[in-house]
Amino acid sequence: MRKINIAIIGLGNIGSYLYKYLNKNKKILSKKNNCVPNITYVSAKTKNKKRQIKISKKKWLKNYMHATTNKNIDLIVELIGGSEGAAKKLVFSALKNKKHVVTANKALIAKYGDQLAKIAEKNKVNLEFEASVCGGVPIIRSLKEGLIANKISKIYGIFNGTSNYILSSMDKLNKDFKEVLTDAQQLGYAETNPSADLNGNDVSAKLKILTSLCFNSFLNNNIHVEGILNIDKIDIDNANKLGYKIKLLGFAELINKKIYQRVHPTLIKKSSYVASIDGVLNAVIVNGNPVGQSVIQGEGAGPAATTSALISDISSILRGNTKFPFSISNSERKKLSFAKISDRFFSAYFRFEVLDKQGVLSNITNIFSKNKVSIKRLIQNPNKNKGSSSIVIITHNSKNSYLDKILKTINKKKYILKESKLIRIHDN
Ligand SMILES: NC(=O)c1ccc[n+]([C@@H]2O[C@H](COP(=O)([O-])OP(=O)(O)OC[C@H]3O[C@@H](n4cnc5c(N)ncnc54)[C@H](OP(=O)(O)O)[C@@H]3O)[C@@H](O)[C@H]2O)c1
Repeated sequence: MRKINIAIIGLGNIGSYLYKYLNKNKKILSKKNNCVPNITYVSAKTKNKKRQIKISKKKWLKNYMHATTNKNIDLIVELIGGSEGAAKKLVFSALKNKKHVVTANKALIAKYGDQLAKIAEKNKVNLEFEASVCGGVPIIRSLKEGLIANKISKIYGIFNGTSNYILSSMDKLNKDFKEVLTDAQQLGYAETNPSADLNGNDVSAKLKILTSLCFNSFLNNNIHVEGILNIDKIDIDNANKLGYKIKLLGFAELINKKIYQRVHPTLIKKSSYVASIDGVLNAVIVNGNPVGQSVIQGEGAGPAATTSALISDISSILRGNTKFPFSISNSERKKLSFAKISDRFFSAYFRFEVLDKQGVLSNITNIFSKNKVSIKRLIQNPNKNKGSSSIVIITHNSKNSYLDKILKTINKKKYILKESKLIRIHDN
């Protein structure tokens, strides 16, 4: 049987799980792919580090970069991580030296994916990155193969398990943000430095990759990004009372030949499918023609789910299925126009913490009407002991730039006690 020689570079959480799984399942994967996945080399930063896997000395590459020129390697699996440094050097050099590459590195693909895809196409090798978006959810292969017939108009969903775990636990366990984050870190759901998960950058990188695949466009940095750091327990409670859940969602839409990419906390009806996705799960919803709406959900991270995606990519290479990394040749990818969301219309939730005194409420409603934003619901909760009041306003569909302006204007008022909140609502 034909075989493909593989080097796994990076033996951390993901790399060591993949190494074990691939060895254990070598036979069945060989039968399914009619080709043997043969791990010839591995490497990482520190050779003598204690690992949960046993590796024969012969397999260890002293210098991981030698994998890119070693004649006994056909495929390099990059599991180092990060958009710069070792991972970048390795992947650029591997493709230039005509090695297939499989990676789980969303940061690298979101930043250098276009350049890397060009080299892979020129050298007729694969660059596969299923594991970089939503762990075990096979969204990339679905877009490239299962949904190939479709013209996609919108893709959205929950692309980050850590933030989803935090938001759903704040809701279910009645705990505040800090408490839940500590729980998540203890359970291994959040990294010691969880900033990319919480500030929206992780979702942003994944969304950029999905946008390119959906609309045959190049990667584009015109994206509106907000994370969940600003979400208080009181916002979750207010949302509940109004019939909503708060989720960190990513959206990419094609409207009148313009693409809009946005990542932000969103109020979504409790009865909707996305509202039911709790914990570390991810869910991706694709609107396409002729298929209609398709939904895939599953584990968004962790060694097991990520290995499932990596093996799918490796299998594609074992079967000799050389494809364009972004589904279409570089020369056919379109330079579509990406637009800011300022002209888009959203209904929104506002929360203002104010001094409880006469004239405040009328000043706030005046600012709304001056900015052409009409109010659908207004709830005022005074706290007589503190002399303060919490005002929640739900708006009708309004221009995003006006919603932003209202927030800025009211935040400057002397009666404001805490920074005000604006959370967009997704009504369909
Ligand atoms: N963890 C997840 O749930 C998950 C999910 C989806 C995608 N991913 C992606 O998968 C990739 C790997 O993640 P991970 O969680 O496995 O990371 P990790 O546990 O930190 O492992 C990183 C590995 O890279 C090696 N490394 C670091 N710097 C290196 C260098 N300069 N030269 C050679 N090797 C170097 C480390 O070597 P030592 O072992 O010697 O320190 C380690 O083995 C990342 O791109 C990540 O975004 C992770």
